[in-house]
Amino acid sequence: MPSVLAEPRIALTMRGLSKTYNGNLALDSLFLQIRPGEIHALLGGNGSGKSTTIKILAGVVQADPGGEIVVGDTVAGVSEWSPARAHAAGLRFVHQQPAVFPELSVAENLALGAGFPRGIGGRIDWPALHVRTKELLAKYDIAATPKTPLGMLRAADRSRVAIMRALQDRDDADSGVLVLDEPTAALPDVEVAHLLDALRSYAAAGQTILYVSHRLDEVLSVADRITVLRDGRKVDTVEAKGLSEADLIELIVGRPLDRVFPPGTSDVTEDAALVIRGLTGGPLRGVDLTLRRGEVLGIAGLLGSGRSELMRMLFGAYPIDAGTVTLDGAPYRPRTPDAAMKAGVAYVPEDRHADALLQGESVRHNLSAGQANHYFRNFVYRHKQERADSQRSISDFLIRTFNDEQPIETLSGGNQQKVVIARWLRRHPKVLLLDEPTQGVDVGARSEIYQLIRKATDAGTSVILVASEPEELAHSSDRVAILRGGRITAVVEQPMDAHRLTELMNSTEGSP
Ligand SMILES: Nc1ncnc2c1ncn2[C@@H]1O[C@H](COP(=O)(O)OP(=O)(O)OP(=O)(O)O)[C@@H](O)[C@H]1O
Ligand SMILES: [Mg+2]
Repeated sequence: MPSVLAEPRIALTMRGLSKTYNGNLALDSLFLQIRPGEIHALLGGNGSGKSTTIKILAGVVQADPGGEIVVGDTVAGVSEWSPARAHAAGLRFVHQQPAVFPELSVAENLALGAGFPRGIGGRIDWPALHVRTKELLAKYDIAATPKTPLGMLRAADRSRVAIMRALQDRDDADSGVLVLDEPTAALPDVEVAHLLDALRSYAAAGQTILYVSHRLDEVLSVADRITVLRDGRKVDTVEAKGLSEADLIELIVGRPLDRVFPPGTSDVTEDAALVIRGLTGGPLRGVDLTLRRGEVLGIAGLLGSGRSELMRMLFGAYPIDAGTVTLDGAPYRPRTPDAAMKAGVAYVPEDRHADALLQGESVRHNLSAGQANHYFRNFVYRHKQERADSQRSISDFLIRTFNDEQPIETLSGGNQQKVVIARWLRRHPKVLLLDEPTQGVDVGARSEIYQLIRKATDAGTSVILVASEPEELAHSSDRVAILRGGRITAVVEQPMDAHRLTELMNSTEGSP
């Protein structure tokens, strides 16, 4: 018997997977096959069922009866599938909101993924655990010690720890499947490149990978095959080779999209909304920057350049050591986010889950959060108005939800992000600070969000935008400031291109 024939040609089969949430069909009889050693990308708009598929596979969400999952020799009906069976079958997961524990150390977080190394008598072998963690941190190039509490790391590093945790016992694996739900969403470009290299080398060593992403360039560069979902149904499974981004967009959205980024048309005045001089603190060593009224000012900088710290300082959420800021000509030095909001400054943070959402509350409530005064008039809470406003936001921002009373955590990841952006844009802030606003947002909604940002700038809001993708910065900003070594080293005007921005971010030109 030639061994070639005995070799399984399919690593994983999902057959007839469906999921109904409160009478709403989120996934409709999905059939999907993953070949051994391939990198298979799962694409689709926000709320199209990608995470649902992956959660079913992981055994954490129970599919509707009738479906079947086949991994290697394991054939199971969905009703008998469980996290333990998924693990035993060799499936490893990094979820969209990975269950990492910020208050525990990096080492403890790793141990939770693989079981603590036990010494004599079953006690946790701390020295061994720390040695192993140190090796892994070096291998994955993460600047932390085993004892660093995970919460001290920035969002990008936290997701790298989650990936490292999933991969830690799969080093020599050529069976099973590694499943990643948007592993690169929170990572800046350089690190995405590192991670993709790592994925490629795992695949080359025989590891099968299924992964979800909204970054089409990345998918085209790394995936062998691509499956696209739309509204819970499979559109197609296609070979990645020879496909263009436009082809993918058409599969995802269902029609061609003229442009992903709307043209920059804002009427920028010379009028300054925000003037920053010598701002110092944390990684920043004297930032000088002027934000003009009605402009979108992009900030380009590598990981650790202080992009997020700059935003948080302007929002009263990070200590300022020295320097001055004026807002509309008046001194501005917020000591708390509350003070910043009162002064008309709004902030959409990078880490939306920790900072921005009211867990357990409805979509409507999350949209109007912080606006209770606005709805409270003459001792009457204007519920009707609040409902009408929330309906409008849902349709403006293409938020996919069954109704606005749905708890926020039951929305798909990208739709949660839209709620956060909608909330702040509704308040017509003077200055809007956006940190990675389209992270995890699908390609269709992305262009809508930028159009809504343009609408806001036309109405007089001024925007500072941090985005990791130079492409996105170049297309959606009026100007882009380059942040390097704690200072602004250049300000680029339109017309600009992504290539030039990348060069400036990495060059030593003009740096101290
Ligand atoms: N626990 C839940 N209760 C109710 N509805 C849910 C729940 N979880 C998911 N849904 C709904 O199921 C649909 C599919 O969601 P899913 O998370 O699979 O989308 P996704 O493709 O991963 O989107 P994204 O790109 O935004 O992450 C969405 O409409 C979502 O609101
Ligand atoms: Mg998802």
